[in-house]
Amino acid sequence: MLAVGLATLVPGLRSLTGRRTGGTVSSCYCYSVWLRHLCMLHEHGLPTDFETVAELGPGDSLGAGLAALLCGAERYIALDAVRYADRATNLRVFDELVELFRNRAPIPDQREFPRVQPPLRSYAFPSDLLTPARLEAALSPDRVGRIRAALAALGTDRRDGPICYHAPWTADMIDDASVDLVFSQGVLQFVEDIPAAYAAMARWLRPDGVMSHEVTFQSIGITTEWNGHWACSEPLWKLAVGNRRHATNRVPHSAYVSLLQDMGWRILTEVRVERSSGIDRSQLACPYRHLSDRDLSTSSSLLQSMRQTASPPQFARAAVAKAT
Ligand SMILES: C[S@@+](CC[C@H](N)C(=O)[O-])C[C@H]1O[C@@H](n2cnc3c(N)ncnc32)[C@H](O)[C@@H]1O
Repeated sequence: MLAVGLATLVPGLRSLTGRRTGGTVSSCYCYSVWLRHLCMLHEHGLPTDFETVAELGPGDSLGAGLAALLCGAERYIALDAVRYADRATNLRVFDELVELFRNRAPIPDQREFPRVQPPLRSYAFPSDLLTPARLEAALSPDRVGRIRAALAALGTDRRDGPICYHAPWTADMIDDASVDLVFSQGVLQFVEDIPAAYAAMARWLRPDGVMSHEVTFQSIGITTEWNGHWACSEPLWKLAVGNRRHATNRVPHSAYVSLLQDMGWRILTEVRVERSSGIDRSQLACPYRHLSDRDLSTSSSLLQSMRQTASPPQFARAAVAKAT
């Protein structure tokens, strides 16, 4: 269990674990991720039309946020801990995304991306949401050309263009009440200070702004069992993590829910994916003995929320899916 963590403590070997972040090097992955967030918002009566969209942790490309721009958003702000995305990858992914949207391609499903969550009821192109009129305006050659030019000229510190990329980021890089949606895919589990991150996002969002975060609770290769991180004592965990750039904060699903509620956010979408626990309760390390069976078997969840004071949508749903 400790081999990979220890290897990262050897000078020069950390890059073995830090070169790639996930899937955003693939345009189909980015298309699938963005459309899953969008379809889930639509399904729960939440807004789907945004002027400014911010994303935490885009990874190897800005593709998911570029997909948001291609659906009509005016501005996209990418915030990462590390600057992984480069110009060539961004431009390639952008061009491929334009084709996917122009072709109204179906959403790549669990067969193509078995690890991408949340699952959807339907993977057909969401024409009821992305209507011909909306897409025609969003994909006009002029508009696509302007976004592409901005992407090609992307600098680190421009605040006024249609695309901003800050890595690393600080909360004051975004004006208060200037964002309509903050989303992330497979990122919050790496954030050490979740209350501070939620507070920053709350500051950036307009009063009727929305958060949409897909979080995974798996140790992702650090322990043999998917949830073995909850069985590690603090010293053992430090050794297992080694010098990895990113390791799970070990915060369980219910803590994200409580935190959002305590901060005055109403959760309108809660889609948990369940998986049989890889460890017995007797193996839990001291700080995690209190974990509920529900947390112990929640391998990922999507939480979409608005402020308590924002006007409520017509319907909301909590769902549980089984991991495939
Ligand atoms: C597993 S990758 C996911 C990348 C991408 N969202 C995807 O779906 O493939 C995790 C990403 O979270 C980023 N990350 C880690 N801590 C972060 C933080 N505090 N703020 C923003 N991004 C962070 C990493 O740099 C990395 O890009």
